[in-house]
Amino acid sequence: MNDKIIVITGATDGIGLAAAKAIAGQGYRIGLVGRNPEKGKKAMEAIVSETGNDKLDFFQADLSLVKEVSSLSNYIRNKYSHLNVLLNNAGGASKDKIITSEGLERTFATNQMNYFVLTTNLMDMLSASEGSRVVNVASNAHIGATIDFDNINSEKRHSWWSTYCVSKLMNIMFTYRLAQIQNKVTANCLHPGFVNTNIGGNEGTVIKRIVKFGSNLFARTVEDGADSSIYLSTSNDIHNVSGKYFFKCKEIKSSKASYNKDQWDQLWNVCESYKEQLS
Ligand SMILES: NC(=O)c1ccc[n+]([C@@H]2O[C@H](COP(=O)([O-])OP(=O)(O)OC[C@H]3O[C@@H](n4cnc5c(N)ncnc54)[C@H](OP(=O)(O)O)[C@@H]3O)[C@@H](O)[C@H]2O)c1
Repeated sequence: MNDKIIVITGATDGIGLAAAKAIAGQGYRIGLVGRNPEKGKKAMEAIVSETGNDKLDFFQADLSLVKEVSSLSNYIRNKYSHLNVLLNNAGGASKDKIITSEGLERTFATNQMNYFVLTTNLMDMLSASEGSRVVNVASNAHIGATIDFDNINSEKRHSWWSTYCVSKLMNIMFTYRLAQIQNKVTANCLHPGFVNTNIGGNEGTVIKRIVKFGSNLFARTVEDGADSSIYLSTSNDIHNVSGKYFFKCKEIKSSKASYNKDQWDQLWNVCESYKEQLS
């Protein structure tokens, strides 16, 4: 296989699917990750019909479970000889406090642990190819959030919105820390803007209303929302850029809290420890 290969999580809907279509149009082989095989099949049919590119593989995994993310990493390793880009995009917010069967709060597990486990498990594969990239979809929802390390799994309190915002702050800190220790693979993150997607699903009526309001206000289509994901995953302009945060394909500053290097390390250690316990 000489194709450039990208794995995109949450590629069955929303921003991830829009990014997959555009990147398929550039000729990449794409590993689409989702939890619903029916949606996976439909997504692949839509990509083939819109781009003519049928170099597509679907990987099924519930990314809120560390064990499933670990198995997914093994499937990807077995399937591909190399990997050029990992686009961590899957995410969401649960209205209620939900603790997974592994004991983690579900928004934290899906939005941050999943990014951490998949990326670190695939890092040697990524490092083996010249110019490989990790791209993490975060959000400006992180602005104003701070991490309470005694409340990672909503042990003391739970609010769906602050849990979501903290998870997106974690995505940014994780990206910065990864960029700091990696010299072979670049790591960047982004805010897609408010985009009217299925985020929050059927249970997240409040988040859906907020996103709908924001997307009406800023008029960003799902294709617009995928712009930085596509740019950071594929553009030659930024092949040497790492450890940065983007919106509309331009570097922007993230919140002051996100540059706290001690917390980058603390977060890394927490994720590493859960990964060791649960993989
Ligand atoms: N929409 C916005 O305004 C906005 C703003 C800022 C940041 N973001 C970020 O953008 C990213 C994409 O969100 P979106 O708005 O495109 O949402 P979306 O339309 O709901 O798409 C999310 C994707 O992630 C998948 N996913 C969610 N939980 C999963 C799990 N446990 N296991 C496997 N796959 C799972 C979904 O699969 P299913 O199809 O099975 O549900 C879907 O493919 C997220 O990281 C989100 O935080 C979105």
